[in-house]
Amino acid sequence: MKTNLSVANPAEIETECLVTVVLDRGTKDKTEIFIETADAVVKEAAQEIIGNGEVSGKTFETALLHHPAKLKAKRLLLIGGGKPKNFTASELRKLAGAAARLLKSKSIRSFAFLAPTENIKNEDAVAAIVEGAFVGNFDPDTYKSDRKDKKIDSLTVVASGDQSALQQAMEQARIIGESQNFTRELVNEPGNRLTPTMLAERARKMAAEVGLKCEVLDGEKIRGLKMGAFWGVSQGSDEPPALIVLRYEPAGAPEKPVLGLVGKAITFDSGGISIKPSDGMEKMKYDMAGGAAMLGVMRGIALLKPKIKVTAIICASENMPSGKAQKPGDVQISMSGKSIEIINTDAEGRLVLADGLFYARQLGCTHLVDAATLTGAVVVALGYVNAGVFANDDKLYERFSKAVNNAGEKFWRLPLDDEYREIMNSNIADIVNSCGRWGGAISAAMFLKEFAEDTPWLHLDIAGTAWMEDSKPWIAKGPSGIAVRSLIEFAREFS
Ligand code: BES
Ligand code: MN
Ligand code: ZN
Repeated sequence: MKTNLSVANPAEIETECLVTVVLDRGTKDKTEIFIETADAVVKEAAQEIIGNGEVSGKTFETALLHHPAKLKAKRLLLIGGGKPKNFTASELRKLAGAAARLLKSKSIRSFAFLAPTENIKNEDAVAAIVEGAFVGNFDPDTYKSDRKDKKIDSLTVVASGDQSALQQAMEQARIIGESQNFTRELVNEPGNRLTPTMLAERARKMAAEVGLKCEVLDGEKIRGLKMGAFWGVSQGSDEPPALIVLRYEPAGAPEKPVLGLVGKAITFDSGGISIKPSDGMEKMKYDMAGGAAMLGVMRGIALLKPKIKVTAIICASENMPSGKAQKPGDVQISMSGKSIEIINTDAEGRLVLADGLFYARQLGCTHLVDAATLTGAVVVALGYVNAGVFANDDKLYERFSKAVNNAGEKFWRLPLDDEYREIMNSNIADIVNSCGRWGGAISAAMFLKEFAEDTPWLHLDIAGTAWMEDSKPWIAKGPSGIAVRSLIEFAREFS
């Protein structure tokens, strides 16, 4: 999708569709519809339909006018944004996504969005519109033979203010939106079309395009490094595992900090010998969403160029049952030396991450973030709305939380009290990989904490949020790209 900025008079813009936000400034008993633009001609064009009471300003409500009077635009789309006091950049991002989805469903390929003139800073508005439009423009129909290429080709954002600042905001937002969609493309791929080896190839290609160092360690190297936890997961599969290491080391960045991004990339999670029920098993192709998110983040960072070193470690493997697969009761020795009793082979994410986190520290990372579709339990706790976040460091959490707000994503912090530690005790080894049913998201995080040790660390459990169960006005059903925007923002703030 091409993006351009326009500072022209809205009435003069020649476009398939001019989009403007309408808000309800009224009180409880009386609605008062207000168009979020200073342009009198646009207001006039919409006057009749608003005067008729056909527009309520409710969020996502739309009205499409053809041949709007005195406008050069062929159509005028009014899109509701709710009450002004709740109208933020996050809302605007969603409206832009909703506009893109509505218009492309009508085979309209280009539109111009009027940046709201109130509440939100001009640059923030431009960025929100661009990011939202990229998110909305994505559909997961890769393998449909009647795939209609009904994408939006071109977006114009109409705004006023300092042109170069607006242009910069636009370029950065495009990088962020494209990086999120890069992640979504990967997450959408089925297990037979994205094995660990193929994921590593995609990572290599991306790294070459944006100028990142990329190293892929194969099964033998993984074994050679004594990553017994990671290797144990992969040993049941005919597909070799891959440990993907990406490095961003910009000139002029300080030696420290080094941010380490560790991603779970199980390209298919059958559960292994502790096999999952077949109902819904097809969804387990998205068990690589944490790793894919880190790849999207690295892409964004490489193009936005913050002054901070970042290393990504993506642990890619299948989790399969076979005669060679690890079994419940097996004991694996992790790279850190800690021994792990395998109680449930379906608790494989924490095993690959244990070695990934330890390796990140060995490579000199001073701060760690992992992202993983780790537990069904986080879905029980937080549903499909919030992702879970865990932290062993309050300051790091505060920083992340700010980034999340700016990025318009939703994460909720869950606890890591020492009292949760004892349920991980094993009779034969240092710890078990699975323990009881209650607080399952927390016990998984407690397991990872053993391998982050005293390095400041965040754990993102995105099992419930990496895949949209239903479509929303602003986003298709399917891979969401959760965590990409927040982590790009986090890395930029960190520098
Ligand atoms: N990949 C799953 C978690 C998951 C569940 C992701 C639902 C996305 C949607 C993970 O490997 C897993 O199987 N976790 C088990 C852990 C249990 C065996 C301790 C779970 O959540 O049931
Ligand atoms: Mn599993
Ligand atoms: Zn899994």
